[in-house]
Amino acid sequence: MKMAASRLRLPRLAALASATALAVTVGMAQAQVDEEYWWTAGSGEVFPEVRDYPNAAGALRVLVEGGPVDTVGHAFFEPIGPNGRACVTCHQPHDAMSLTPRTAQERWEATGGTDPLFAAWDGSNCPTMPQGERASHSLLLDHGLFRIERPWPPRDLQGNPIETDFTIEVVRDPWGCNTGRAYGLDAEEPTVSVYRRPRPVANLKYILAVGFDYDPKSGLAMELDPETGEPMSGNLMSDRRAQSLSLQMRDAAASHLEMLRDLTDAERAQIADFESRVYAAQQTIGDDIALDEVAEGGAELLQRSEAGLLGIFASPVWSEFDAWAEMSEEEMAALPPETRAFRESVVRGLHLWRTRSFLVNDSAGINQPLGFGNPARNTCQFCHNMSRTGIDVAPGQIDLGTSNQPFADPMPHLPLFRITCTGRLPHPHYGREILTSDPGYALTTGRCLDVGKITTQQMRAMAAREPLFHNGIAADIPGLVDFYDRRYNIQYTPQERQDMINLLTAL
Ligand code: HEC
Ligand code: HEC
Repeated sequence: MKMAASRLRLPRLAALASATALAVTVGMAQAQVDEEYWWTAGSGEVFPEVRDYPNAAGALRVLVEGGPVDTVGHAFFEPIGPNGRACVTCHQPHDAMSLTPRTAQERWEATGGTDPLFAAWDGSNCPTMPQGERASHSLLLDHGLFRIERPWPPRDLQGNPIETDFTIEVVRDPWGCNTGRAYGLDAEEPTVSVYRRPRPVANLKYILAVGFDYDPKSGLAMELDPETGEPMSGNLMSDRRAQSLSLQMRDAAASHLEMLRDLTDAERAQIADFESRVYAAQQTIGDDIALDEVAEGGAELLQRSEAGLLGIFASPVWSEFDAWAEMSEEEMAALPPETRAFRESVVRGLHLWRTRSFLVNDSAGINQPLGFGNPARNTCQFCHNMSRTGIDVAPGQIDLGTSNQPFADPMPHLPLFRITCTGRLPHPHYGREILTSDPGYALTTGRCLDVGKITTQQMRAMAAREPLFHNGIAADIPGLVDFYDRRYNIQYTPQERQDMINLLTAL
């Protein structure tokens, strides 16, 4: 995982030296450690069975079930496409198998922007921008976002165009990737560019678990995996465009790795094998006391447990923390005061998670068409109900408002689209017209009712991979809690806010 210093040309070395000098004032140890954390595609190192990465909240633990992985010749780790990237380039162990803006900034500094991470295709705001300039990569460097290009109109699994019940126009196009001749709606092959955070490649058995025969949100049977004939979960990717690991990796290889050929069977098997064995969670909390001393801790527990498909009813979400609630006064008194205070706060956060209700309003996928009414009084657990990971047991496409106006924060750095619903019925919450920075699931289904719906993602190891939400609009965990407070007018007290932050930090 060391940087290939020999590959840097001289002027770069100078840039590197000044970057290091700057870091020294912050903390020498930190700077050295961070360089060592970067996983270079094709480095050939062994992926360890267990590794802890210290962070402000304790440590992130990444573990691989069944022992270390030899990455030589392994398709997840080798640059198998022409652009020098591997899957691991954007799914870095140090960042909980996602990628943070901070890591991107460090790579920019260390390589003068030449790391394959910054490939023009999706590591810049638009391939038409001058690639040597930092400003052309601002979405990745400042927000951790990659460009995702979707065909317009959307295609079905066989590649045939889908008839849509809405039209799409570009209102704002800060980087020219939605309006130019080469990319966007006016291009010869029309596309829509949106910008998204990498979702963590870990704990995937929970994401792939199938909770229902029918998608309760649409009433339709779950789609069957073309390869195995088994139902697929519907919880992969922000817009559910790929529903099995196999379909997902083809999408990733053709876009992020810019591969012109298909993955071979052997490559797909290697990637799927690694993906099914890797787990990540926050592990050590406060005063270096491991969670598993009391409560069977994070990553190991995720590995050992079955995906609890009816989390609400069978094993409550985050039941692992109940052990902290059940500690005796004597046991608590034996803890260092800070650890004790943190655990008490997490336990209160857990209680809020399960019981603190608020009015969920205008959130398509929940208020409509499920019949819960609008508004519906419920809790965080209502939408986040799978044990251990907090994703939705049903396919989790819900419009929380993270990309749709007026609920989303102002996002001048993102494109803005005007959607006009042309079907018989208007959208139940927005009417005929919707302003959105990312139509989300609607880019897969072509339905106006799905505009802005985003698949709930797993809630593990978040302290190691901020910013949060698919478009990174929550800068950190406190920012995410404040988003919910505003969105659903929850009115947390300062103590409740802190307790919820501590719970989410401990996951
Ligand atoms: C250039 C960065 C980049 C590279 C390289 C990359 N990914 Fe990703 N990955 C992403 C982004 C961004 C998303 C989220 C996409 C979305 O939601 O639309 C993602 C999502 C995923 C997901 C979905 C996880 C979930 O919870 O939904 C999986 C699985 C995944 N990637 C696997 C891979 C594999 C396998 C490869 C290599 C073949 C790979 N990725 C290469 C950026 C990358
Ligand atoms: C109406 C359904 C709904 C409710 C209620 C809800 N969420 Fe979410 N949550 C979502 C959706 C949808 C996403 C994905 C949104 C996105 O990425 O833009 C999400 C994502 C998240 C994430 C993941 C962030 C990331 O990037 O990994 C966290 C953490 C979270 N919610 C916490 C909470 C908390 C805390 C509450 C209670 C205050 C809550 N949610 C209530 C639907 C809901």
